[in-house]
Amino acid sequence: MQRTFVMVKPDGVGRGLVGRVMARLEDRGLRLAGLRLLEVTPELAARHYAAHRDKPFYPGLVRFITSGPVVAMAWEGEDAVMVVRTMMGPTDPRQAPPGTIRGDFALTIDCNLIHGSDSPEAAEAEIALYFSPDQLVSRPRPEESWIYPPTSR
Ligand code: RTP
Ligand code: MG
Repeated sequence: MQRTFVMVKPDGVGRGLVGRVMARLEDRGLRLAGLRLLEVTPELAARHYAAHRDKPFYPGLVRFITSGPVVAMAWEGEDAVMVVRTMMGPTDPRQAPPGTIRGDFALTIDCNLIHGSDSPEAAEAEIALYFSPDQLVSRPRPEESWIYPPTSR
């Protein structure tokens, strides 16, 4: 099973959309493996967004991600990284099709509601940034035999 890191950003927490985002991931069949409510410090933001350090939008991005509580999550499933990215929709919500999380709940690139790892390597690094090993669980959901056919396991 692949793991991915997902965050409901301060706009999503502030707007009370955490439950609806989580319900979509659960409904899809993904498995919750870790969950934290926290405020991102400037130091943590700098580590999380190190790849964007030299981008013009970086200062605004750090200001935004530290502006209120976030919900950090680890989710598991086959191809979970790609599945969650597809469910999120494109970075700019104006380009995001209806049915995607950004396409249904957001309108601007700065307040695009959700973060998801963009590769399995990034997922591993981001999960390690937000969770200690004892804050993670990996337990199959009972109904997974109806989600993954026997041949795929
Ligand atoms: P995320 O990392 O949050 O899941 O989003 P992403 O992969 O779709 O986008 P990424 O390129 O990693 O950018 C991280 C966040 O920076 C903001 N951004 N602003 N103004 C801009 O041109 C711009 N580009 C990116 C977005 O909030 C994006 O989610
Ligand atoms: Mg990204």
